[in-house]
Amino acid sequence: MNKYIELIKQNIGACGYNACVVTFGCQQNEADSEKLRGMARAMGYDIVYDVKDADLIVVNTCAVREHAELKALSTIGQYKHLKAKNPDMLIGVCGCMVAQKHRVDELKNSYPYVDFSFEPSSLDRFPEILHGVFNQKGRMFSLGENARDISEGIPVLRESDSKAWVSIMYGCNNFCSYCIVPYVRDRERSREYRYVVEEVTELVKSGVKEITLLGQNVNSYNGGCTFAELVEKLSAIEGDFLIRFMTSHPKDVSDELVAAMAKSPRVAKHFHLPLQSGSDGILKIMNRHYDREHYLDNVKKLRTAMPDIALTTDIIVGFPGESDEDFEATLDILREVRFDMIYSFIYSPRSGTPAAKMENQVPQNVKSERMQRLLEVQNQISLEKNEEAVGKVLRVLAEGPSKNDSEVFTGRTETNKLVHFIADESCIGKFIDVKITRAEPFNLRGEIIK
Ligand code: 5AD
Ligand code: SF4
Repeated sequence: MNKYIELIKQNIGACGYNACVVTFGCQQNEADSEKLRGMARAMGYDIVYDVKDADLIVVNTCAVREHAELKALSTIGQYKHLKAKNPDMLIGVCGCMVAQKHRVDELKNSYPYVDFSFEPSSLDRFPEILHGVFNQKGRMFSLGENARDISEGIPVLRESDSKAWVSIMYGCNNFCSYCIVPYVRDRERSREYRYVVEEVTELVKSGVKEITLLGQNVNSYNGGCTFAELVEKLSAIEGDFLIRFMTSHPKDVSDELVAAMAKSPRVAKHFHLPLQSGSDGILKIMNRHYDREHYLDNVKKLRTAMPDIALTTDIIVGFPGESDEDFEATLDILREVRFDMIYSFIYSPRSGTPAAKMENQVPQNVKSERMQRLLEVQNQISLEKNEEAVGKVLRVLAEGPSKNDSEVFTGRTETNKLVHFIADESCIGKFIDVKITRAEPFNLRGEIIK
């Protein structure tokens, strides 16, 4: 990687070229985009955030649902006219969508203005691929690389001074029957714990207040110690900071992890634990390796150890074969657990996954109706859960002004709830105490306690 970074820097370093990275999808992609910007800057590009100013555009795509792919393709389509105006412009596509052969073929054939693509396991090959495009003056499409050792030391340009993503493991071995991730992000690989501890120590030293450990299956981390042990090691770092992590799998919630969380004031009291369905029959066909009872047991363990912990989850509605009874079982468990928030998705068939081939697909109108009912049930619960916070003083990490009103700032509680409050710029990136005055289904309102 470094060799190609140097070669490109020698060639274009003085040209004043701009690079723009456009991101779709999950936090892992956000983290990867920060590395793409880091590499681009190291190669001599200035980083811009408007594609109109760019000489190099990299689109970091998602493939988890069809909608995400269609959005990425339509965005790439809009860049055709930019390239017409600036013929020197290079356009690249990376991320999960282009780890699928049919999408790479589509780019090659129907998007002639796309110059290169590379899949997520080749992120560190970005400079090498760009160098190839410059030098062979042709298009380059990398695909089919096997998962390789994790590349340490990739330059990174972080978005925030107070919050940082730290990827600790990549890939997934679970093969849930609906999910494309194991095919596009390859098998699980964990970073060695000493690199993670080093990175987090440096971040905390530089003033970062919130570290989010990332992995497709973060709690099956295995980089020389268990995930629980890693959390303990990170909790021992000196400084005023919070540790978050996502995404966890219910089959890997160990007693040691629960204990490590409960013990450390540095671990945020929030657990995102995707349930997907409340029906044992559907969970089995989803290949999730747990049942309702096991999931509820996890919830009990977490709440016994940390009574104020916030729980959030992912739910898929309309998985093939989901009957009314199966769906009722999902509503039932939502009422029983009372999650603080859920992320709900209509099942989207992903080509190459077992569930996409199942014959008993649920009709679109049934999926939509179920989604509506799910949201009605959960919005009421979310509101009631948020109302429990009214009157309390909560520690909030202040982020910045909200989109619509420059006087209203946003921040997050330790339990990851969004809070709006009146403030000024001096609070940005700091932990502040906010008295909660009002609850809404998706956020809280409050006043800063001086
Ligand atoms: N259709 C709908 N939702 C999906 N997810 C993963 N694959 C699919 C799919 N094919 C959801 C799961 C997962 C979240 C990141 O996306 O709920 O936890
Ligand atoms: Fe997909 Fe399942 Fe892996 Fe999550 S755990 S990324 S849902 S295969």
